[in-house]
Amino acid sequence: MALRTALTEQLGIEHPIVLAPMGGVSGGALAAAVSNGGGLGMVGAGSGARQWLEPELQNLTGATDKPWGVGFLSWALEKDALAWVLEQRPHAVMLSFGDPSPYAEMVLKAGIALLIQVTDLEEAARAVDVGATFVVAQGSEAGGHGGGRATLPFVPAVIDAVGPTSVLVAGGIADGRGVAAALALGGAGAVIGTRFEACDESLISSGLREVLLDRKGSDTERTHLLDVARGSQWPSRYSARVVTNPFLDQWRGRELELLQDAEALSTYKAAAKRNDPAAVSIWAGECLDLIHEIRGAEGLVGELAADAEEQLRRALDVTA
Ligand SMILES: Cc1cc2nc3c(=O)[nH]c(=O)nc-3n(C[C@H](O)[C@H](O)[C@H](O)COP(=O)(O)O)c2cc1C
Repeated sequence: MALRTALTEQLGIEHPIVLAPMGGVSGGALAAAVSNGGGLGMVGAGSGARQWLEPELQNLTGATDKPWGVGFLSWALEKDALAWVLEQRPHAVMLSFGDPSPYAEMVLKAGIALLIQVTDLEEAARAVDVGATFVVAQGSEAGGHGGGRATLPFVPAVIDAVGPTSVLVAGGIADGRGVAAALALGGAGAVIGTRFEACDESLISSGLREVLLDRKGSDTERTHLLDVARGSQWPSRYSARVVTNPFLDQWRGRELELLQDAEALSTYKAAAKRNDPAAVSIWAGECLDLIHEIRGAEGLVGELAADAEEQLRRALDVTA
């Protein structure tokens, strides 16, 4: 038995598993590994800076002939960057965080599947209005930026709100049980970030990968503080789930004070430049408890799918 869903059918992929387009993490090598494993690899392109993206897409398309995609931050995206990516013929584009309406038609007109990641029901309604092929419902357990809704109740609420549009589930999925839960909730697939961040092919340094292995879900928190410290333009409605660190402990709840402290800000910037885990943002989700090894992403995809199948079979067999 294979896990067949609207996602696998429409994208022509083997498993209902999508690599989250993580900025600074999901480059061409990781996306190719996930696609080669039978999932949908997505490059995290942020605002779409061509200088970074062009070589990553070359890596990706040189390493796989399977379907792949690119994800953007809607609040930062420029139309020219999107137009160039569409010319590269991805199989899917994901838009997250912000208003997707300036870009949705461009993607759909190009005949490319449009995934829109949403963090509340208002965003879910807008995603359907602009024609999303798949709505990605992201719960607050997720690593990186997002909103405040927990995955378990949020996903069925989104499914009820956007049907018949298919929904993918993001936030807290790191093993076959999570993938099975996403499907059991009525999702057409799982969008997985943190688990793939802790893979050999991710763009983060090996030192930061070790931090991911070492820390637990309870060592993460949602915060605006590190965005404030690095002078980021992220819209304030989205906080980020990060691994806690001494800098956060020192400044938690004192964002305004931090903004006025030039010395503290420059100390932060110097630490961030060194990739110092005592200060730098390590975006990661609550699923850290479930990650026990750094490994290759390609083989992981098939294992996640096989474990999910096994989990679903076991749930149906009450005598097992
Ligand atoms: C390190 C990291 C960076 C992320 N960057 C982005 C991004 O640039 N664009 C985006 O749409 N989502 C981003 N996300 C969120 C993911 O799309 C996804 O919602 C999340 O990873 C799912 O939860 P999980 O981390 O528990 O698997 C990021 C997540 C992580 C962990």
